[in-house]
Amino acid sequence: MKLTILMGSPRKNGNTAALLEPFLQECAALGAETETIWLYDRSIAPCLGCMTCQDCLDGLGCVQKDDFPTVFQAMADSDVIVLATPIYAFFCTAPMKALLDRAIYAGTKNYGRQKGPRLLAGKRLASIVTCGYPKEKAADLWEDALKRFCKHGGLYAAGVLCCRDMGRQAPFMDEEKEQAARNFARTLFPPETRGKQVHLSPRLRMAADMIPTDSNGISLVDVGTDHAYLPVWLLQNPQKDRKFVHVIAADLREGPLNRAIQTAQEAKCSGIDFRLCDGLSAVDTKEANVIVIAGMGGETIVHILKDAPWRDWTDKTLILQPMSSMPELRGWLQENGFRIEEERLAQEGETLYTAFLVRAGEMDPLRPAELWAGQNRNVPLRGAWLNQWLARIGRALEGMAQSQDSGIHTRRQFLTSVYGGLTEMKEEWEQWQK
Ligand SMILES: Cc1cc2nc3c(=O)[nH]c(=O)nc-3n(C[C@H](O)[C@H](O)[C@H](O)COP(=O)(O)O)c2cc1C
Repeated sequence: MKLTILMGSPRKNGNTAALLEPFLQECAALGAETETIWLYDRSIAPCLGCMTCQDCLDGLGCVQKDDFPTVFQAMADSDVIVLATPIYAFFCTAPMKALLDRAIYAGTKNYGRQKGPRLLAGKRLASIVTCGYPKEKAADLWEDALKRFCKHGGLYAAGVLCCRDMGRQAPFMDEEKEQAARNFARTLFPPETRGKQVHLSPRLRMAADMIPTDSNGISLVDVGTDHAYLPVWLLQNPQKDRKFVHVIAADLREGPLNRAIQTAQEAKCSGIDFRLCDGLSAVDTKEANVIVIAGMGGETIVHILKDAPWRDWTDKTLILQPMSSMPELRGWLQENGFRIEEERLAQEGETLYTAFLVRAGEMDPLRPAELWAGQNRNVPLRGAWLNQWLARIGRALEGMAQSQDSGIHTRRQFLTSVYGGLTEMKEEWEQWQK
């Protein structure tokens, strides 16, 4: 589905532009193609009323040479036309009025000697409006005019979103307006045009929630993307200040990558850059500031980081979600110039998973038990997590109890000290809970 947004505000950072932003994000999340045309940047002269266009039944036939035909073509090529405008003197702004005057005449061959087609018939027309007065005293005339414009041109009136500017004493955007813009976008998509919604398991949702906000835009790489659930979900669920400027979904094998492409197609989610490659090998350092490596063994994650085609990690955020070898991964990170800034836990059935947020930098050396269980101090699942490690190490110690082998003896001593450390950590946790 294609939406053309005709932007009638002169202010690039104004209220109407701010309201449009979550609307556009939601459209992208629903898989729509959008084009925004800033009318103040185009030259669209007022209609001359010469009626020449009425003698041309197979095109616009306007005598004026300006940007009108290009803008009209974009309207004709779209499923939904969105008129975004501040209210000026109880109506839309002047460039939009000029556009509508010319569109209704040149686009509706109703007024000449011979009747002809209505060139925008069947399109849906919606409007996003901002105004200073209460809606019923500000946008009422505009709303009525649009209904008549639609009736006349054979378009469907798809609704108006109107938000009020309370003046300089209050910021224009708030959560309510943001939500209203998203909801309005959803009303424009009939169910059959919407992509399939992806749902994340708690494990992947934990990794998704750890991706930091960044108003400058995020360039994300999901390494070992498999079904591409994570990148598709991120694009389907836009958040304030978490704008993705580039999303790469990489996988080592063709089968998983094809599955990833299929997920994106079913979700009608465009804009993912799929790469068949080993780890980060086909990713340039400029293409990535957030790297997610989830659902792999800790040692594989270490290999991927070691083999990355860059050495400087200063502007990167890593979200690492190991399935095994966590002590090895934590140990390697602390010895190789990385700092684990945060750890979280998630539960799926009986199984607990962890994920780390990692950046370049020094970290205080982890105690042996922390290499095993991490430092997820304020996480509600920590008690269960420590119990899980105590049980695992306890079982390993039982298995080694009878052995006379000197190597196993050393390992047993080491694991005994880890067990002691974990017990202390559990006591600390229980104290903290009180
Ligand atoms: C020239 C001008 C005329 C305006 N006329 C009206 C009006 O008739 N009714 C109204 O409610 N607000 C009016 N406003 C207020 C704007 O519609 C409102 O501040 C809007 O949010 C500005 O959007 P923008 O930041 O995208 O330019 C007017 C503002 C200007 C600058």
